[in-house]
Amino acid sequence: MNARLPDHTVIQAIRPKVLFKAIENRFPGQNVGFTVNIPSPDIGGMTLLESSVLVSLAKLTGASSLFEFGTFMGATTLLLAQNTPVDAQVVTIDLPPDEVSSTHTGDVLKDGDANDDYLRSAFADQGARCLARADAAVHSKVQQILQDSTTLDVREQGFEHQFDFIFIDGGHHFDIVKKDTENAYRMARKNAVVLWHDYASNIHSDVTEFLNGHAQGRRIYHVEHTMIAFELLGDFSTLLSGS
Ligand SMILES: C[S@@+](CC[C@H](N)C(=O)[O-])C[C@H]1O[C@@H](n2cnc3c(N)ncnc32)[C@H](O)[C@@H]1O
Repeated sequence: MNARLPDHTVIQAIRPKVLFKAIENRFPGQNVGFTVNIPSPDIGGMTLLESSVLVSLAKLTGASSLFEFGTFMGATTLLLAQNTPVDAQVVTIDLPPDEVSSTHTGDVLKDGDANDDYLRSAFADQGARCLARADAAVHSKVQQILQDSTTLDVREQGFEHQFDFIFIDGGHHFDIVKKDTENAYRMARKNAVVLWHDYASNIHSDVTEFLNGHAQGRRIYHVEHTMIAFELLGDFSTLLSGS
């Protein structure tokens, strides 16, 4: 799954169990469970390990105001809604279906542009199908935005400093990841976790390239055996101490 990483990256690789240990430290003497659906066989979804990493970070940070760039099937939107407090809100953004046109013809499993094009077309054709069939109680925690994320006006939307968990998994082009990341920091509360998917992906190399540069002077972690990278902001930066 993972691309060969450069020998010298400032991104710190950690094992998944570092997070699981932090969960044990945060919830001593408790069994900490989570609700997960059988992963979709379609491309573009999370693995079970990635799902457990996302939920662990949501539980560690006590996230209650979550934002996702890239809804797709809504599988991760649903995962986050199902594993956060009843009054949590999950906002998720994806492209307006009528603005999507298919242009690439390459191998969707090997060519990043073709893969992105497939994901956009699938969302335009089928919408967030996992969300659509969710229970009303879970569904009511979710707000969907249909807009190109690079045109998001953070201030006008009232999104400045509103979110404590921001997951960047929309378009994978360098410029889109960069713009979504810039917006994510503007949208983040003082204490927040910012996460990226597709770090070390074999096909979406722009995400890796962007993050390796972006990580200079920051503490960004890559969870081994996943394509998840994350940064803990503010007081959350100590959450992994002692794990
Ligand atoms: C990898 S999928 C998201 C998967 C989803 N986060 C999950 O975990 O199930 C990427 C999604 O980003 C959307 N996308 C691509 N470019 C975008 C843009 N500029 N603005 C908003 N969404 C975009 C695509 O339509 C696609 O549905």
